[in-house]
Amino acid sequence: MDTVHHVFRGTFVHSTGSCDMEILENHILGVGSTGKILFLEDARELAKLAIKWGFDERKMEELSKNEFFMPGMVDTHIHAPQYSFMGSAMDRPLLEWLEHTTFPTEEKYTDLQLAKDLYSKVVRRTLKNGTTTACYFATIHTDASLVLADLTYQYGQRAFIGKVCMDSNKTYPKYIESTDQSIEEAERFIEVLKHKNYARVQPIITPRFGLSCSEKLLSQLGTLADKYELRIQSHISESVAEIEEVLKTFPDYNSYTEVYSKNKLLTKKTVMAHGCYLTDEELSVFRTKGAAISHCPNSNISLCSGHLDVRNVIKQNVKLGLGTDVAGGYTVSMLDAVRKAIETSKILFIQHKKREKENRKKEANQNENDAENEIKSAAQDKVEKEHDYKVLSYHEAFKLATLGGSQALNIDHITGNFEVNKEFDALLINPEAEDSPFEVFCNIPKEDMVQKFLYLGDDRNIKAVYVAGRCVVPFQNQA
Ligand code: GUN
Ligand code: FE
Repeated sequence: MDTVHHVFRGTFVHSTGSCDMEILENHILGVGSTGKILFLEDARELAKLAIKWGFDERKMEELSKNEFFMPGMVDTHIHAPQYSFMGSAMDRPLLEWLEHTTFPTEEKYTDLQLAKDLYSKVVRRTLKNGTTTACYFATIHTDASLVLADLTYQYGQRAFIGKVCMDSNKTYPKYIESTDQSIEEAERFIEVLKHKNYARVQPIITPRFGLSCSEKLLSQLGTLADKYELRIQSHISESVAEIEEVLKTFPDYNSYTEVYSKNKLLTKKTVMAHGCYLTDEELSVFRTKGAAISHCPNSNISLCSGHLDVRNVIKQNVKLGLGTDVAGGYTVSMLDAVRKAIETSKILFIQHKKREKENRKKEANQNENDAENEIKSAAQDKVEKEHDYKVLSYHEAFKLATLGGSQALNIDHITGNFEVNKEFDALLINPEAEDSPFEVFCNIPKEDMVQKFLYLGDDRNIKAVYVAGRCVVPFQNQA
């Protein structure tokens, strides 16, 4: 039996399969020496648990009245090298932004000292902001990508690291590899990282997107993912201009989704960023394959790419997580992703309402001018469908940032909430931190306090961060 390493008493907030947000007050949670959650029970069971697990009640760590634990957040899509220009270069659409800012920046990561400096900053910043799991894109450079892997390991972040693969680049041809080199380097990256035996840092196959990969490269990466049983990440249907270019580049394919699926890149271990313009037909391919979408609302707005209809993705039963997409998104904060996901959904709600009103007007005109029942009922169906539209609640957004992200990355058997036997990836939240950006007024219901933190909180409220039971923030002594 595992031995008890930590016992906490206080409030625990998490999502479960059946509940978007469960608030457990006056509970005790035990973490074992392996970092796994041993028990989570009502505090009335304390004496019984202390005997069963052999711990000293006096050594229990007590949370103060308004503090609470929540699961660590899962950033399902972030570009580590782009951290250097995060918050700037925000005034171009996707393809221009890639050409003018992104590719010239990423190209510089042949410099391993630059990689070490920048990557240690992004790992620290994301951890401090509560990202316990990050799914990173690095650059095309294998050695610099390995530096990122080493740093996530040293700082104790759970991470997937993608050495980016690209053998085509019409707009910035300097930043590519040959097809063979890309495959060879991807395989070298996988082999070297595997041999490091990092329990919580793993390689992920990373074709950049449709416009940077030949069919041959896509297909060989699909084969590589299969050979090593690896996860896959890329971008899909982010902007209209991008989709048009992809369909021109791959005339034998019927959709962007097909470009990936026919090359074995759409599996139950795939996470695709954006998907703003995926049709229901494409979403059904995602569902059938078990592939996930990373919703990156900040980036979608910042690059004027589009909006993902989250409600429809949920309705279509496609796995879904949230991502910051730094530096298309201007912040590493997953709390921002929560807020922007809700706001995007509200914008879509407003658009639906507007369309609903227009439909009603049309229907009224049809009633007057057109006796044909068929048309009338079709219009009515549409109106009813619009009525269905429900804004994403903050409970749902919270779930997407935690359990949803872990489902999207296929690690929900390991992390994502406080179920017994999962690893303890957690944030200790103090809404009353000395320099807190918001006020807590007396006797506020717990649920409102959690909502306030989601809307107004930041890293000042994140008192401690745990990954697999180990306290990683405040930072310990790293190399
Ligand atoms: N599509 C291809 N590369 C990128 C990138 O770096 N960021 C975003 N947002 N989209 C991309
Ligand atoms: Fe991206």
